[in-house]
Amino acid sequence: MDISLSARISHLQPSPTVALNTKAKELAEQGHKVINFSVGEPDFPTPEPIVEAAIEALRQGKTKYGAAGGGLPLRKAIAAKLEKENQLSYQPSQIVVGVGAKEILFHLALALINEGDEVLIPAPYWVSYTEHVLAAGGKPVVIPYPQDHKGPRLTPEMIKPYVTAKTKAIVLTSPNNPVGYVMEREEIKELGAYLADKPWWIISDEIYEYMAYDGEAVSIGTLCPAVRDRFILVNGFSKGYAMTGWRVGYMAGPARVAELVRTLQTQSSTCLPAFVEEGALKALSLGPDLMKDKMQVLKGRRDLAVRLLQDIPDVDMIPPKGAFYVFIDIRKNLEKASAYKNHNSLAFSAALLEKHHVAMVPGEAFGAPGFLRLSYAVHEDVLTEGLRRLRVALQELR
Ligand SMILES: Cc1ncc(COP(=O)(O)O)c(C=O)c1O
Repeated sequence: MDISLSARISHLQPSPTVALNTKAKELAEQGHKVINFSVGEPDFPTPEPIVEAAIEALRQGKTKYGAAGGGLPLRKAIAAKLEKENQLSYQPSQIVVGVGAKEILFHLALALINEGDEVLIPAPYWVSYTEHVLAAGGKPVVIPYPQDHKGPRLTPEMIKPYVTAKTKAIVLTSPNNPVGYVMEREEIKELGAYLADKPWWIISDEIYEYMAYDGEAVSIGTLCPAVRDRFILVNGFSKGYAMTGWRVGYMAGPARVAELVRTLQTQSSTCLPAFVEEGALKALSLGPDLMKDKMQVLKGRRDLAVRLLQDIPDVDMIPPKGAFYVFIDIRKNLEKASAYKNHNSLAFSAALLEKHHVAMVPGEAFGAPGFLRLSYAVHEDVLTEGLRRLRVALQELR
């Protein structure tokens, strides 16, 4: 019988990064030497003390349901972290812990958006923001990627043409995925002054907070008290503590928003596994110093990636200041090949994987055709070999 499916959900795109990663794994299983630059996760293991804390929790029988929205000890520890590191004061009731920042962001979209509400998303953006908004019945309004690559990433002048009476929220990501841009203080202050009287939620995704190699990652909530009543901070443990598989993320914001997000969790994933919470608590008790050496390793890889890329003819990029990605501009190369008209990096990325066994996410996934995203959270030798293959693939376009 031909029973209809949800039209809204049928229109969603599956996560392109997850899809590419799956395809790369398939090729590797067939015996190919695949270089996977597509995944957004550090290649180092979760630190041992965190693993031990979770194992110990399992042994102690923490195998039952946890508390919806996160147990009080974990929410208190997150509040203490936000106070100490970000100078932001929250009550535990304003904090919700979810199954990854992705679940938190999805539930936030459901909690904030009414049918037709518009959400401003500056490109290039993390792949899931637009789909979350669509799933919630809202309209993602993409602020296009500035072509010149220079100057601040986001100014009030760039936002203004996209504002309507239906604008409901804006999403900020710094350090940024996929560009690796870290917003500067002056830029944040200018943005904060503009947003001060706007009736919009300001969703600040700060998941790459600890990965700022040049300059520092500062929250708009910290710098601009005038936006605090509409400010919603999102962060997690995946990147900063190499805990992607543990699935722990959180939000902090107005209590009424937190309450709705928590309600959604009670009706979906229910809670975080209790033993996972113990791992997260351990991570917070050890603090970001635990990962300092690893951040230096990532910085070294960033420098290596930039050096190798600068050597490839007609490849452009903004040297990234944070996160672990380089957003590589291959438009000049694509213009040389009729197969990749209109800067079709989607087709080029498919060919790069098929022929050269290198997986890189195409710019289309982030709202910026003609680019490839390189995740350099891989060993230096892998980075060098993968970029050698990219060079060969681009040379073949001539
Ligand atoms: C910008 C950004 N936000 C959120 C997430 C989701 O992280 P989590 O693993 O906590 O769901 C990612 C993961 O790639 C990301 O890049």
